Amino acid sequence: MSGTNRIRKVGIIGASGKLGQHMVRHALERGYEVVGVCRESSVPKLAAYADRITIVPGPTNDRDVIRQAVAGCDGVLTVLVPWGVQQYSSGTAQAVLDHSEPHARLIFSCGWHITRDGKDQYSWKFKTALQLATRLGRLLRAVEIDDQVEACRRIFASNRLWTVVRGSDLEEGESQGLPEWSHHIGDPILASNLTRRVDFALFMIEALTDDLLIQEAPAIVGRLTPSARAHA
Ligand SMILES: NC(=O)c1ccc[n+]([C@@H]2O[C@H](COP(=O)([O-])OP(=O)(O)OC[C@H]3O[C@@H](n4cnc5c(N)ncnc54)[C@H](OP(=O)(O)O)[C@@H]3O)[C@@H](O)[C@H]2O)c1
Repeated sequence: MSGTNRIRKVGIIGASGKLGQHMVRHALERGYEVVGVCRESSVPKLAAYADRITIVPGPTNDRDVIRQAVAGCDGVLTVLVPWGVQQYSSGTAQAVLDHSEPHARLIFSCGWHITRDGKDQYSWKFKTALQLATRLGRLLRAVEIDDQVEACRRIFASNRLWTVVRGSDLEEGESQGLPEWSHHIGDPILASNLTRRVDFALFMIEALTDDLLIQEAPAIVGRLTPSARAHA
């Protein structure tokens, strides 16, 4: 079941966003064949890669778009985003779970607010901000954070070769290397709550070939942050 040699072709679902573009670059650097999905209006954002990747335009929760994009892929990297009130995250996750190849490694991105076993310890500040964002997002019909929770519930319940990567707060900047990770929010190593976006993408790519991460939900933090240096 293992290894590096198994990955030849990857699908990147949500390829035109900031995380997605970093993943496209990392994947090409590893010599993987890349198929990217993004909204039709966002195709120009991938112009720099247009001659090196296949682009399937369309919404990521469109099952036909996903079926086409993940065919033959050994790995599928999915950016789960809760935009609108259209079950965008859960629709995307379900399509990937249903249509990807049985042997494919499936890597999903989300934030620290996702908990797999309820053992994460959140600060009151984090909980308050999450509650506010959830209510406000719903009220404005702009963001459906509950649906990202539902998407992850479905992934956790599946027997596919999944990994759900839980990102901390993000910043831009040069790579600092592969982030550190831990099982639960509240673990001291995660206290700095900051990761470079380019390294979030690196962790997603490396997860494709790390069988220790199968059916895990690692919470990540930048490897040069004070908490990671103190506890790694
Ligand atoms: N931002 C953070 O601080 C943070 C923290 C922790 C974890 N995360 C996780 O990191 C991942 C990447 O998120 P990000 O915030 O950094 O953004 P990002 O990488 O720029 O990705 C945003 C994605 O959402 C799509 N999108 C934007 N507006 C949309 C709309 N109205 N309808 C449908 N799709 C839309 C974008 O597609 P287009 O290119 O077509 O616009 C893009 O694929 C997510 O899984 C998020 O949960 C983010």
